[in-house]
Amino acid sequence: MFARIAGVGSFLPGQPVKNDDLIQRGVETNDEWIFSRTGIRARHLAAANCTSSDLALEASTRALAAAGIEASDVDLIIVATSTPDFIFPSTACLLQAKLGNHGAMAFDVQAVCSGFIFALSVAEKFIRSGSHKKALVVGAEVFSRILDWDDRTTCVLFGDGAGAVVLEASEKPGILATAAHADGSHHGILSVPGSVCGGKVIGDPFLRMDGKAVFKFAVRVLADVAQECCEVAGVTSAEIDWLIPHQANIRIIESTAKKMGLGMDKVIVTVDHHGNTSAASIPLALDVAVRDGRIQRGHKVLLEGVGGGFTWGAVLLEF
Ligand code: UT7
Repeated sequence: MFARIAGVGSFLPGQPVKNDDLIQRGVETNDEWIFSRTGIRARHLAAANCTSSDLALEASTRALAAAGIEASDVDLIIVATSTPDFIFPSTACLLQAKLGNHGAMAFDVQAVCSGFIFALSVAEKFIRSGSHKKALVVGAEVFSRILDWDDRTTCVLFGDGAGAVVLEASEKPGILATAAHADGSHHGILSVPGSVCGGKVIGDPFLRMDGKAVFKFAVRVLADVAQECCEVAGVTSAEIDWLIPHQANIRIIESTAKKMGLGMDKVIVTVDHHGNTSAASIPLALDVAVRDGRIQRGHKVLLEGVGGGFTWGAVLLEF
């Protein structure tokens, strides 16, 4: 029994905000700096009243339609997010209510930009165990809420969005292998080091990042975990049809592809359109490539992510 992707969907809120548009918002930056270092041209920013569960609902509705099933058919909902609507209940439960699903197991996964990989890995275990049959796995973020718009080294890099897949039990091949890791000793290089206590924010409620340290760490672990996942599945990198890396930075993406011996013609890149959408970035890119026909049934696709924690992981699947 495999866990197989039955449908994919994604959603980006509003109109693209181009790099130079950020200048009008008071950010001292320019398109050349942002594009040359990151490959980002634009990002989408959710309206003030739009939450992660709202974005998740749009992406999920599209994934359910692509899978040809109803929300009521789903028996497991996992949302990967670091920007939940509330402290509790989980964004997955709020999404469940919006979808009109009653009774499915629903919970959030918090692994920042690796969140979708972690959530997909967890859902796969539930399905392969036989306990659940149809899972909705979502990455949804409103990172614009945790950006310090006075910190140009971070605010230009992130955006809002959501992506979702329906995963179902199948005798046909689906997920072939997963690999995921964390090392909390690196928590300080990418974090939002604040909390709520007694009605007040304690600490810092904004995203803080040591960009150079994150860059070095990401390049190393992404190549390692990609190789580990391929070895578990007994698949060589030459057999991979598509690589879908976390969409944070084109230079990290290119470096990982090079280490794996893959040409950029085998790599799905959407970071230029939406910047770093954290847990949403991998399903967003997957949806684009499925809908434009590049990824076809039977193709071997390697998904991989890295993020705060530090966390990192990969999923190898036959689509
Ligand atoms: O999910 C993981 C998420 N994180 C990442 O993927 C981030 C990984 N890291 C990176 O992508 C890069 O480290 C950055 C893009 C964040 C920064 O690139 P860099 O080449 O490491 O730049 P830098 O920190 O060395 O900054 C160089 C200069 C500085 O000016 P001075 O001190 O040399 O005069 C900055 O003040 O660039 C300046 N700068 C900017 N200029 C225009 C910093 N931010 C901006 C900006 N626009 N937005």
